[in-house]
Amino acid sequence: LLTFVRHIIVTSNITFMQTLSQTLSSFSEYVENQTFDHTPKELYEPIRYILSLGGKRIRPLLVLLSYQLFEDEIENAFPTAFAVEVFHNFTLMHDDIMDAAPLRRGKPTVHTKYNVNTGILSGDAMLILAYDYLVSGSGDAKTVTKLIKVFNKVAKEVCEGQQFDINFEKDNQVTIPAYLEMIRLKTAVLLAAALAMGAIQANADEKDIENLYDFGINIGLSFQIQDDILDTFGDAATFGKKVGGDIIQNKKTYLYLKSLQDLDKKDATLLFDFYNKDFKDEEEKIVAVKNLFDKANIKQKATQLQEAYYQTAMQHLAAVSASDDRKKNLTAIVNELMSRSV
Ligand code: IPE
Ligand code: IPE
Ligand code: MG
Ligand code: MG
Ligand code: MG
Repeated sequence: LLTFVRHIIVTSNITFMQTLSQTLSSFSEYVENQTFDHTPKELYEPIRYILSLGGKRIRPLLVLLSYQLFEDEIENAFPTAFAVEVFHNFTLMHDDIMDAAPLRRGKPTVHTKYNVNTGILSGDAMLILAYDYLVSGSGDAKTVTKLIKVFNKVAKEVCEGQQFDINFEKDNQVTIPAYLEMIRLKTAVLLAAALAMGAIQANADEKDIENLYDFGINIGLSFQIQDDILDTFGDAATFGKKVGGDIIQNKKTYLYLKSLQDLDKKDATLLFDFYNKDFKDEEEKIVAVKNLFDKANIKQKATQLQEAYYQTAMQHLAAVSASDDRKKNLTAIVNELMSRSV
């Protein structure tokens, strides 16, 4: 997180950025003080473990920077921001079980380091902990009620998206619109909700909350398409997850669906077979599928789609009634995200 933010600070000349760095160091300090030092340790240690691996912490930043569009007392939004990050980490813990993923943030996933039962139960506890932070830290009863309403909706949607994602592994009728709806649910709504929740806590207008939500949906779609690109084309040394994991799991990503459409009949059949027959040698499968993706020029096509959603996102941010100066932090963070490699 700190490297990520330092990079933003170094690469921009915006005086407001100083506030971003202050925001971040005080939020990081807040996070470090949440120790989850309870018994049984088998339940809480994996929670400390996954949180200690950090990650980009983009979602809590979105809460805080959205709040900051309207209000200055950023600390008021720390518990809300942390609730969203704890929820995100809970989804990762369970997602890694579902995706049989060995690596997360460059370290063994919880279910590989400990075991599957630990991943399930520590994940469950994290979901409850997220509610604790919302209920006891996010302000008056009216605000909390509003936040929980948004949070409940998004939490259900993420489950729906995750189930579609798993269903699609074995479904050969998946369309590109169905894929886009799946990633809207599993990923985009949480970024959107983070932004909406920051604005709700700052008592923003309905119209602004809506525009921030739509900004988040489009950033989220862009973000997940990029995640899918990195999963195949990322650098194994820095990516922090297993490169090629989506190919091994037969994930019906845009890379796969669009390649299937664009390749000639012979190559399309080859690609189809790779996703429908058992292959013993995983690495061999990754190389072969990657070659077919390259033949379809898919990295460029997916990047174009990613950028199109980014452009739409920025239109929604432009429509929010806060000054350009107040929007600079949000713009900087989102720009940085677009060229991420992890
Ligand atoms: C990973 O999210 C899950 C997706 C929605 C792609 P991030 O890429 O934000 O993961 P961390 O929190 O930075 O590790
Ligand atoms: C995960 O999508 C989305 C959620 C965790 C809800 P992915 O399965 O693509 O995320 P990574 O690549 O494992 O981080
Ligand atoms: Mg997944
Ligand atoms: Mg996954
Ligand atoms: Mg992924």
